Formats: sequence, structure tokens, C-alpha cells
Amino acid sequence: MEPSTPHAAGGMERAGAKGPVVDRLVLRRPDDWHVHLRDGRMLEMVAPATARLFARAIVMPNLTPPITTVAAARAYRERILAAVAGAAFTPLMTAYLTDASEPEELERGYREGVFSACKLYPAHATTNSAAGVSDLAKLAGVFATLERIGMPLLIHGEVTDPEVDVFDREAVFIERHLQPLLQSHPGLKVVLEHITTSEAADFVRQGGPNLAATITPHHLHINRNAMFRGGLRPDFYCLPVAKREQHRLALRAAATSGNPSFFLGTDSAPHPRSAKETACGCAGIYNAPYALESYAAVFEEEGALERLEAFASEYGPRFYGLPLNDSTITLERRDQLVPQRLHGSAAGSGEGAQALVPFHAGELLGWRVV
Ligand code: DOR
Ligand code: ZN
Repeated sequence: MEPSTPHAAGGMERAGAKGPVVDRLVLRRPDDWHVHLRDGRMLEMVAPATARLFARAIVMPNLTPPITTVAAARAYRERILAAVAGAAFTPLMTAYLTDASEPEELERGYREGVFSACKLYPAHATTNSAAGVSDLAKLAGVFATLERIGMPLLIHGEVTDPEVDVFDREAVFIERHLQPLLQSHPGLKVVLEHITTSEAADFVRQGGPNLAATITPHHLHINRNAMFRGGLRPDFYCLPVAKREQHRLALRAAATSGNPSFFLGTDSAPHPRSAKETACGCAGIYNAPYALESYAAVFEEEGALERLEAFASEYGPRFYGLPLNDSTITLERRDQLVPQRLHGSAAGSGEGAQALVPFHAGELLGWRVV
């Protein structure tokens, strides 16, 4: 079968729907260009969900301690492969940048096929980012090397300045740091990760072919109200935090526009319930198990189902210079109820304390991966 366009079966028109109604989608198998697979017991719990849907995934390096060396990335890759037990899945490893990162180590890892990219966390911007970069100026040598060898730089684009409102941190990062960085390194390949604002979408749209962005399912579904609906809801807290409705709509427009600068990256970031439902809860939304259904709902609502395949399976590999996947995945129009908890019986202190709450918990999704 030639999987270059989504194969739609069905085809009757439904009043009120934005496009033709289909009940089966066969897509080229997608990749996840941003995921947190964690380590140890959590890795064993979550990696199979990602490997079930995605052929490849860009794996975030924010473990404790972070993945900063080629040796650590090789070992972590082995643990991931063990956790997915024979699935046809390729983890693409990333190097965590610190103030002390050495260009030679990054270049060696890239040339040896261990590192696919570098990840830049501004220090203290998010989970396990304490060892991140305190001042971009310290990495001038690293950026020059990445630019020379064509190794992508993946950026968590938020300033950490406590004076800046948490909802403005992405837009301010673009102005203060990203724009100058791209000006001084025009050949640098940059992915602005998990964008959340219209400012980011506009900036990426106006950038050249070396600039792209990933967009998560949750930022396409929720705005900041979700965190406060009827009470404080930690399951909708992530970083960058969800913004106003106008931004969600701008992200939907970008993701479904058919612009190859925007592609799929779930930012699936599991934390056990005990770490979410507490006085100082962790940022992160666990969306891996239903990620494709979640994106499909958005593309359908926007009347753009025919653009889902390119967003999920083509633009990412093109940006990274990797081949498209040959295999396919099938989505069927069938309601499925997302459970309130996953892995509830996992070992933990209190009952279900180690369980994970999936994104869309308790909701009906209209598509199902078969
Ligand atoms: O919500 C988030 N969770 N954002 C990040 O940047 C990190 C991630 C995590 O590792 O938990
Ligand atoms: Zn992330």
C-alpha cells in the first residue's frame, strides 16, 4: 500500500460537519518529536504506550542526573529498548545542555549516531532543569558547533526571570533570547518545543527553513481555564503553562495549516499522582496512550483530517533529515472512554499513589487506533 495520503473510507456528508465524514484513516506511522520516557519503573510503565503508536521518538534527557554524555545516552537507549521489549521502535536520544557542555562531546555523539539533537533548558525553567543553562552566552562555542555540523537545537523557550509573568515567559524568551540567537547563528537548526502562544506560532511561521516548532495535543485542547474549572486541577498543569483561548486557537490554526514548520511532539510527561496531587505539584501531562486520537479529534474539528498525516508523520522527519516511515497505523471512528487512571496497581505507598492520570481522563474520544 502507498501510504503517502491518508486513506479515507466512508465519505458520506454530515450536516454541520466541516468536511466529508470518514470512518477509517490509514496513516503513515507517525513519530513523536518530543517525549519524556523517564527511567526505572516509570520507564517500564510508559514506554510501551509510545512504542505502540510511534516508530521513533525524540527522548528528552531531563533525568536525574541528566543525560549529558554519549555514554549515558547509549546506556539510557538500551534501557528504553529493554522496556519496549522487541517493539519496532527507535528512541532518538538528546543531549542535555549545561553551562559546561563541551562541543567535542556533542559532535562525537552526533557523528556516532547516538545523539540526534541537543536540548536546551534554561536553568530552573521546568522539571529537572536545575543543571540547565544559566546564560546562553556561555554556549557560544556549542552553538557554533551545532550550526557547523547541522545538529538540531531543541529549546524549552521560557525565560526564568521571576519578574516576568508566568504566562508571558514564552513570548519574552523569543524576544530576549531566540531572536538574537538566530540572528547570530542563521544556519542553526532550531526546534522551539511545545509552543503555547500566537507569538511563537507567528515567529516560527516567519522563520526560515531552519526553524520549526512542535505542538502538543494538550495545548490544542485546553486553555488556561482548564486548570481552574470547579477547583484546582493539577492534571492540566504543564510547562509552558496553557495560555488564553486566543492562543489555543492560534496553535490549532498553525498545526492544521499544512505548514511544514509545525509538527507533532506530544511532550508526554508522566508524573505519579502523588507528585501531581500535592502542595507543590509537578508540571507535566501524560498523553502518550491516546495521543493520536487526541490529535485526530483536533484535526477533525478543524476540518483538516487530510492534513493530519503530514503533521504527524512527514514534517518532523523532513526537518530532521530522516526517512519517512514505511509502515502504517489505522484509526477507526469508534468511541472510547479514557480511563480515570492507568497503572493503578503499581507499587507505591498509598493506594494508587503511583498511578498515572492520562490526558482526557473520563472523556469519550471519537477515534481509536486499531
Ligand atoms: O510540563 C512539563 N513537564 N514541561 C516540561 O518542560 C518538562 C516536563 C517534565 O519533564 O515533567
Ligand atoms: Zn518536555
